[in-house]
Amino acid sequence: MDINNAFTPDKSHFGDDFLWGVSTAAFQIEGSHDADGKGLSIWDVFTAKKGRIKSNHHARTACNFYASYQTDINLISELNIPNFRFSISWSRLLPNGTGEVNQAGIDYYNNLIDYMTSQGIEPWVTLYHWDLPHALELKGGWTNRESISWFTEFTELCARHFGDRVKNWMVMNEPSVFTGAGYFLGIHAPGKRGISNYAKAVHHVTMATAAGGRILRNLLPEANIGTTFSCTYIEPASDKRKDIAAAKRVDTLLNRTFIEPILGMGYPQEDLPVLNKLNKYMLPGDRENMAFDFDFIGLQCYTREVVRSSMLTPYIGASLVTAQKRKVPLLTEMKWEVYPPAISNMLKQFSKYENIKKIIVTENGAAFPDTLINGEVKDTERKQYIQDHLTEILRAKNEGAKVDGYFVWSLTDNFEWAEGYHARFGLIHIDFDTQQRTIKQSGHWYRQFLADEK
Ligand code: NOJ
Repeated sequence: MDINNAFTPDKSHFGDDFLWGVSTAAFQIEGSHDADGKGLSIWDVFTAKKGRIKSNHHARTACNFYASYQTDINLISELNIPNFRFSISWSRLLPNGTGEVNQAGIDYYNNLIDYMTSQGIEPWVTLYHWDLPHALELKGGWTNRESISWFTEFTELCARHFGDRVKNWMVMNEPSVFTGAGYFLGIHAPGKRGISNYAKAVHHVTMATAAGGRILRNLLPEANIGTTFSCTYIEPASDKRKDIAAAKRVDTLLNRTFIEPILGMGYPQEDLPVLNKLNKYMLPGDRENMAFDFDFIGLQCYTREVVRSSMLTPYIGASLVTAQKRKVPLLTEMKWEVYPPAISNMLKQFSKYENIKKIIVTENGAAFPDTLINGEVKDTERKQYIQDHLTEILRAKNEGAKVDGYFVWSLTDNFEWAEGYHARFGLIHIDFDTQQRTIKQSGHWYRQFLADEK
């Protein structure tokens, strides 16, 4: 097929088996942070501290999804979206992280799953989307090796209670982001910093990812089991040798550190020597136990970064030439460059790993400063962003990339971590004062795109 710039794909170009969906995460939408016996998570505690989140926003109400999930599931139906990705709040099920189970939490997710399946919507569950129970953080959180067994206890509980109806699972969400931002830079919960916290968290999260996969496989042999990775297409700022080498280190850090051990290749220490710091936390047998044969890999790509060598940055020796500095034509509210070829490049890069069977784009989307005027949100840029990314995904698929699905981030505007409610990613607008939902132009477009009869 000849795809030029004027081409806009429709659903049929991707084939009948291609999966279409929309993604969310518990902490970003649910609110009701202490309802019905829920324990606190690290994000409840982090957002309560002054100065951590833009405008000191918090997620105690968020999108009120906990109470009004039926409304949002109905909207998913209205948009013709067949697959819904959401995460389970660990501290709703296990308020202390381990031990005593909160039946009200189990009931809630049972009701949610039953309601969506009654509406013909297929559940896709993420087990860990960043909201570790605070009680476990008090014991060191992911820096404590015991986190591997805490996580397997939670995984087993979810598999036993929901596995009869949930056929699609994702173990972790974007480990490089929550370990980097939460345990090295301190800008996400739990706000820890430094290389040794980071190294411990990286290793324990990697071990927990594989352990979670094994538990799901043992308890639910028929399930479709995956895990998700963030990735960013990396390019050197020039063709100087030192910039090319710096770009390789950043690519290794962001795009390879977590996936390669899972694929049985070990950590990519040769290309990023700082990863040798992980050796201190590796026990005999870990290299084998870090590997797990996932049915699919969730790829989440939003942009590219341009990198130059910089000896001022410890451990990595590289800095970003930001999109703002590069004066790119279009920036999102996150200050990310709109650069659709990033996703086709990353799909091709990941497809080169022989051990990856299947890739699903489990997140892609954009934040723009949407405004609701006369009951309408004309988010032309978001619609264009999604269309252009789909064009690139189709190009990669036609060139042999193993891509089998696409989920938009996100259903509604929601709590965007350190950005609070400033970054709106939804296909559906939320007025956070009234909780009023309005389907944006992009949402109407996705509905049409997914419709069988046009
Ligand atoms: C990655 C994360 O999984 C999600 O929680 C976040 O809101 C989006 N990307 C956008 O930044």
